[in-house]
Amino acid sequence: MATMEGLIRLVNALQKACTKLGDFGGDASLPTLWDSLPSVAVVGGQSSGKSSVLESIVGRDFLPRGSGIVTRRPLVLQLYKTEQGEQEYAEFLHLPNKRFTDFSLVRKEIQDETDKITGKSKQISPVPIQLSIYSPNVVNLTMIDLPGLTKVAVEGQPESIVQDIENLVRSYVEKPNCIILAITPANQDIATSDAIRLAREVDPAGERTFGVLTKLDLMDRGTNALEVLEGRSYRLQQPWVGVVNRSQADINRNVDMMDARRREREFFASSPDYGHLASKMGSEYLAKLLSRHLESVIKARIPAIASFIGRSIDGLESELDHLGRPVAIDAGAQLYTILELCRAFDRTFKEHLEGGRPGGDR
Ligand code: GDP
Ligand code: NA
Ligand code: MG
Repeated sequence: MATMEGLIRLVNALQKACTKLGDFGGDASLPTLWDSLPSVAVVGGQSSGKSSVLESIVGRDFLPRGSGIVTRRPLVLQLYKTEQGEQEYAEFLHLPNKRFTDFSLVRKEIQDETDKITGKSKQISPVPIQLSIYSPNVVNLTMIDLPGLTKVAVEGQPESIVQDIENLVRSYVEKPNCIILAITPANQDIATSDAIRLAREVDPAGERTFGVLTKLDLMDRGTNALEVLEGRSYRLQQPWVGVVNRSQADINRNVDMMDARRREREFFASSPDYGHLASKMGSEYLAKLLSRHLESVIKARIPAIASFIGRSIDGLESELDHLGRPVAIDAGAQLYTILELCRAFDRTFKEHLEGGRPGGDR
């Protein structure tokens, strides 16, 4: 019988194929296909801890860092859980068949790919980089790292940068299928959080926003973040999750990600303020929460995705007829891949229905 996991994998594969097509300019109907597929966007001000949260969720150190705008293109990160003991590796969509097992080379490739499009300027580009990570230490999840929101342009940046970044981030978070991971540092007043400001604008009921409070270890002595974590400062449908990422000193000392996860667990378990919340705090809990949520969203949306895909198949077939087969150009080949994936989804979905209990396995 077709499994929910199989359907989720197909959703991921479709997302990947649509990202690739985007590189070729794509056509009008496919962005809509992408939009019907849910994913998690990481949103927050500069240095709020976005990259750190992503790395903790992955359990690997692989993102470019530094001051200023480091993330200048969206990074679409797809995580695939593999069997215990299997070798972890990463693969870029723009470098098919090249397996990265050294994650410092992943970082370098992200930097190079960013510079390739933005030309080492401090400009940003909406063209995403797609990266897949296969690891026993992850949960199945698609996440998008976005440039940090900023209030002022600095030396060397065009004046328009503040608005350009905001528009780029908004173009992701305004989609109803986007799950917003709103990163807010605990050592800053939540009223000034860029992430919450934008989330409130596009998701006023807080239905698809997950609040993440970083830097709990950096709060002033004698203060705590219970007002936020217990949902009294800014209410969301989902619970707030507090995390403790590696500090800059930890990064400089190369503190291992797994050690950092363990220290984070200890921080919550031994904290007089947060001890009672310990089981619902930390990056590992956040990853599980997101994965479960994404799965339930996909489950709930599968009939809609299936019907959309049914319609896309017709559209894609006529699109391909326009291009003429066999298609030599990459865009045609990519459309063809998408069509095949849509057909596979359609088949799997029907098998799933015939297996009874739609969305009810597991
Ligand atoms: P981004 O710009 O939002 O991607 O932020 P980064 O993840 O690069 O983090 C910015 C800086 O804050 C880095 O020096 C991190 O080490 C530090 N940082 C992030 N989260 C935490 C945290 O929870 N605790 C501490 N002590 N430092 C953190
Ligand atoms: Na940043
Ligand atoms: Mg970053």
